[in-house]
Amino acid sequence: MDWGMENRLAQLIGADGRCLWLPVDHGYFQGPVTNLENVGTTIDPLLPYADAIFVTRGILRTSVRPRNSKPIILRVSGATSVVGKDLANEAITTCMEEAVRLNASAVGISVFVGSDYEHDSLLNLARLVDEGERYGMPVMAVTAVGRELKKRDARYLALASRISAELGARVVKTYYCDEFEKVTRGCPVPIVIAGGPKVATELEVLQFVHDGIRRGAIGVNLGRNIWQNKHPVPMIRAIRSIIHDAASPEEAQAIYDSAISGA
Ligand code: 5RP
Repeated sequence: MDWGMENRLAQLIGADGRCLWLPVDHGYFQGPVTNLENVGTTIDPLLPYADAIFVTRGILRTSVRPRNSKPIILRVSGATSVVGKDLANEAITTCMEEAVRLNASAVGISVFVGSDYEHDSLLNLARLVDEGERYGMPVMAVTAVGRELKKRDARYLALASRISAELGARVVKTYYCDEFEKVTRGCPVPIVIAGGPKVATELEVLQFVHDGIRRGAIGVNLGRNIWQNKHPVPMIRAIRSIIHDAASPEEAQAIYDSAISGA
């Protein structure tokens, strides 16, 4: 691996081989979702506990301070919206020169396997990888399901993750599911877990993060279940303890509870 590529990946993944990435890119197709109306205010207290943030260039320039920030994974696919015809019809929205100018440590792009735009989104990924390899820029593939949340099973996610790796993604972001080891086993590059819509209890999140790591993920790229939680800082601290300190879900829950009572 070339020095630049290796160095960028080392900025994102700790010496322990683990990572906690905080995505705040949701507005690129959903607009101002709850608690991301003002991204700067939301992420400020969370940044000390994140290893990187996943963000578009517009939010990076307007809402993230260049000083004392965290490594950037730049969202470079989009050009669709929740009120449009098909979320899968994405294009590459940001060129590699811009990613370098913004000092990104990686770029992220969604692929929509099984959709009407499967071919286009996979070609987008392949072309982005060509560019990324030229510049030493890791590409993270996001195995997106659009509105079809029920697609999140091991068979589908293993397929989409493996195809992403075959096309050259350096990291794959996918959903946690039952038999998650089938997804990680079939994918030769590191996998990070996305959170999905906010779930009912903290323990549920802590359990799937713990189980996902146990079954082969290197970390998370998890947003709404952190910054839509009533107590985002205790929540990110609890998740961090699982990822970097090998805490059990119950130990992480205790960290959350005591952070709340101390708050
Ligand atoms: C949006 C994304 C998000 O980065 C991803 O969904 C992770 O965030 P969350 O945990 O809120 O699902 O790619 O398209």
